[in-house]
Amino acid sequence: MSTVLVVYGTKSGCTAGIAERIGATLSAAGVTADVKPAQEHPEPGGYDAVIVGSGVRAGMWHASAKQWLIGHAAELKERPVALFTACLTIASDPVKTDEVRAYTDPLITESGVEPVDVGMFAGMNDPKAFSLPERLIMKAMKAPEGDFRDYEAVDAWVRDVMGKLGV
Ligand SMILES: Cc1cc2nc3c(=O)[nH]c(=O)nc-3n(C[C@H](O)[C@H](O)[C@H](O)COP(=O)(O)O)c2cc1C
Repeated sequence: MSTVLVVYGTKSGCTAGIAERIGATLSAAGVTADVKPAQEHPEPGGYDAVIVGSGVRAGMWHASAKQWLIGHAAELKERPVALFTACLTIASDPVKTDEVRAYTDPLITESGVEPVDVGMFAGMNDPKAFSLPERLIMKAMKAPEGDFRDYEAVDAWVRDVMGKLGV
């Protein structure tokens, strides 16, 4: 049975939900999946493949996910890796796809980890989950409120990326 480590960075919990769904979808397909926050510093050695994702603030992955990716680059280069981003720039048109993909480009360059794929998922704008400064930023940006996570899109990505990861 193949083993996959799913690592995520989150500020307000959104990406944790997506990572747990990725893990559940892998498990349902017969893959052993461990889902861990980057802050727990999970070790990628011993897994057949790794999926790493993060929410975004001001165009950047959270520090915990970024540091985990760069800190484990040597082990990650030895196995297939997929990345994913959860954010409010919903990648529904080519311009936005480029914008969301650009959130991970500097990480790929800095770590040298070449992913088999980069998943792009809609996140959430839930004022209850944000700090006051964050709420004010979201309000100033006139971001629509809601939980836009599309778990069927996540499932479809997992089914596709399993083949690319060879699991
Ligand atoms: C202060 C702030 C800045 C954000 N900046 C961006 C951004 O630059 N691009 C984007 O697409 N989404 C942005 N978002 C939306 C988050 O990526 C979205 O809320 C995501 O679901 C957060 O995931 P997390 O809770 O796992 O951290 C921002 C949200 C906040 C509160």
